[in-house]
Amino acid sequence: MKPLHPAALPLPISPLALGTWALAGDKFWGAQAERDSVATIHAALDAGVTLIDTAPAYGDGLSEEIVGRALRGRRHQAVLATKISEADLTPDRTVASCEASLRRLQTDCIDLLQIHWLGSGERLEDVIAAMEGLRAAGKVRTLGVCNFGAQSLGRLRAAGRGWVTNQLPYNLIWRAIEFEIVGACERDGLGILCYSPLQQGLLTGRFRTPEEVPVGRHRTRHFRADRPMSRHGGAGCEALTFATLDRIRAVAERLGQPMADVALAWLLHRPGVSSVIFGARTPQQVQENLAAGRLALDAKTIAELNGATDELKTVLGPNADLWAGEPRIR
Ligand SMILES: NC(=O)c1ccc[n+]([C@@H]2O[C@H](COP(=O)([O-])OP(=O)(O)OC[C@H]3O[C@@H](n4cnc5c(N)ncnc54)[C@H](OP(=O)(O)O)[C@@H]3O)[C@@H](O)[C@H]2O)c1
Repeated sequence: MKPLHPAALPLPISPLALGTWALAGDKFWGAQAERDSVATIHAALDAGVTLIDTAPAYGDGLSEEIVGRALRGRRHQAVLATKISEADLTPDRTVASCEASLRRLQTDCIDLLQIHWLGSGERLEDVIAAMEGLRAAGKVRTLGVCNFGAQSLGRLRAAGRGWVTNQLPYNLIWRAIEFEIVGACERDGLGILCYSPLQQGLLTGRFRTPEEVPVGRHRTRHFRADRPMSRHGGAGCEALTFATLDRIRAVAERLGQPMADVALAWLLHRPGVSSVIFGARTPQQVQENLAAGRLALDAKTIAELNGATDELKTVLGPNADLWAGEPRIR
């Protein structure tokens, strides 16, 4: 772990954090009642989670609106993180997007503003300057990126000052960032915020076959490209993915612990990781997942989990992009 408490933040970033993509209830996640979303956010805050991660892209602003409503009277308990969408990566649009997020989140300052995905057309250096301008103006406390590979991190290092985090997909069955990106983040002093730590529910052990995985969640490169909404165009590796999940399940059973907690705890033991952003849709899921913070894994168990997942890591390779065959995490 790399504990993170930038001086500009009133609170430290908690090791376990709440992600709010699914709380918007979109085409990937299905329906979600707002009262359950608000109760989920409150359960996380009650248990001492500080970092709440959202984005304008989640439900086209709805996730931010729900977070804003849930934080009424409790804003001081949260490290509030949101993003700038790829379509808004020009200086003017970046500023407008931040203003819109501030309104939806009902706050006068965002704690962590992150670039969501870098495309190929924008001038990153101009966007960096615009975001640093927002920080200087007091609209944002700290800055971060998401989905930046070693090459993009080099551009950030050259043009940016004082950026604190890189949010990346990382879990037991998605270890691509270990090839190169973890080292690049460590070199640049960036804390890694892990997203999809449960591989969108696969690492809870709930799904025993690809067919049981809900539509919208089998579009990652684990799955065949003819699954609905898939766009990676590759063969996938479904048999190996589910064999790997069985191996992880066996370790969890030996430990007598829920598979989800073992998966989250493994991340908390990885170098460079500052926070693990899990998605949850109910207070019960929050409470179950936070138990991972109390689960110490010994060196033998960590080696066993690495060994169980090494083959899948090798087959999936260093492309860290969960969804695209052509790596967008560059
Ligand atoms: N920066 C980026 O590009 C990016 C990309 C993706 C995600 N993220 C962030 O990362 C967050 C988390 O990632 P994620 O939502 O993709 O995936 P995740 O955390 O891997 O999986 C979340 C899903 O797992 C299931 N789950 C969670 N806890 C459970 C439990 N205790 N028991 C059973 N099932 C459980 C729930 O599924 P059900 O809904 O079926 O209950 C939940 O919706 C997002 O909300 C978002 O904030 C960022």
